[in-house]
Amino acid sequence: MRLFLSWVLIYVVFLAVLRKMWSSRYLRSHLSRSLYMNMLSHSQEAPYWDCSHKWYACDTQTLSEALRPMFVQSYLDDGTQTFLNRSIEKSGWLSIQLYHSFMSSVFSMFMSRTSINGLLGRGSMFVFSQEQFQRLLRVGPDWKSLRLLDLGAGDGEVTRVMSPHFEEIYVTEMSQTMIWQLQKKKYRVLNIDEWQKTGLQYDIISCLNLLDRCHQPVTLLKEMRSVLEPTRGRVILALVLPFHPYVENGGKWEKPAEAMDVTGTAWEEQVNSLADIFKEAGFAVETFTRLPYLCEGDMYNDYYVLDDAVFVLRPL
Ligand SMILES: C[S@@+](CC[C@H](N)C(=O)[O-])C[C@H]1O[C@@H](n2cnc3c(N)ncnc32)[C@H](O)[C@@H]1O
Ligand SMILES: *[C@@H]1O[C@H](CO)[C@@H](O)[C@H](O)[C@H]1NC(C)=O
Repeated sequence: MRLFLSWVLIYVVFLAVLRKMWSSRYLRSHLSRSLYMNMLSHSQEAPYWDCSHKWYACDTQTLSEALRPMFVQSYLDDGTQTFLNRSIEKSGWLSIQLYHSFMSSVFSMFMSRTSINGLLGRGSMFVFSQEQFQRLLRVGPDWKSLRLLDLGAGDGEVTRVMSPHFEEIYVTEMSQTMIWQLQKKKYRVLNIDEWQKTGLQYDIISCLNLLDRCHQPVTLLKEMRSVLEPTRGRVILALVLPFHPYVENGGKWEKPAEAMDVTGTAWEEQVNSLADIFKEAGFAVETFTRLPYLCEGDMYNDYYVLDDAVFVLRPL
């Protein structure tokens, strides 16, 4: 017991020193680079009211002619602001952040980051607000539909934003601790090799930030096509750009088994290339937008931001 307490004490002192050193630019950029491999990339240098306009910007001139009219301009709305405010508040709770940081360092020896977050119930993500979701699908706040399937739903916080529009909500997850979170929220969890064969058709399938984190993205696209309601059905798909696929396996990172051939470097170029990949899988782009993919912060950062492209796809 005494040994344990001294270990905790040393750990706290270590973190306090680390926090002091944090002002050093080198350490900060060095650590955020290694954090990229844990999917939490570019830490915020400037506060969001200084840089948030860049999160939504698109150079429509470099889009292919067919895609240009499909672009929807998004902006920092109330729903996003609420998430950011909450995240900034939470990262200021030092004792909770210390506890999370300590537990993660213990569990990271044998668990994936996703599973640790699921276990501790932290690191929730934000893709779009309800208004942004409705604008992309071109529906009103009262729009109702029958069935949603959210693939790779994480802890279900993003599912919750979509949930008021649906009577039945099905989800899939790879991580066991995330499955517990989803069951707690009363979603119907389907096995990752079972959802393709239930015989059900879905009105909306969401595949948010999953294609770059699974082993078979090309197969996944085709499977989604096969269980989507064939006329009114839509897929809502988010992908972090620049495209950088890797799969979490326990505490390790692996290359995916199937390659998705995304070309170009700029956000707009990769979007052009993705439209071709979707077409091959039997989908046309109906609308798309650029949004920040936000993650709750920890003791070092108020929140983390990745760059998302969000598409609404219709079956061809
Ligand atoms: C980056 S998170 C995205 C979570 C949430 N959809 C969001 O947008 O915030 C990707 C999730 O997909 C899960 N995952 C990975 N491969 C999967 C697969 N083949 N089927 C279902 N989920 C998978 C991971 O466990 C992880 O929770
Ligand atoms: C978020 O916080 C800012 C600054 O404290 C405040 O002006 C704003 O009204 C808050 N927004 C929401 C939606 O809570």
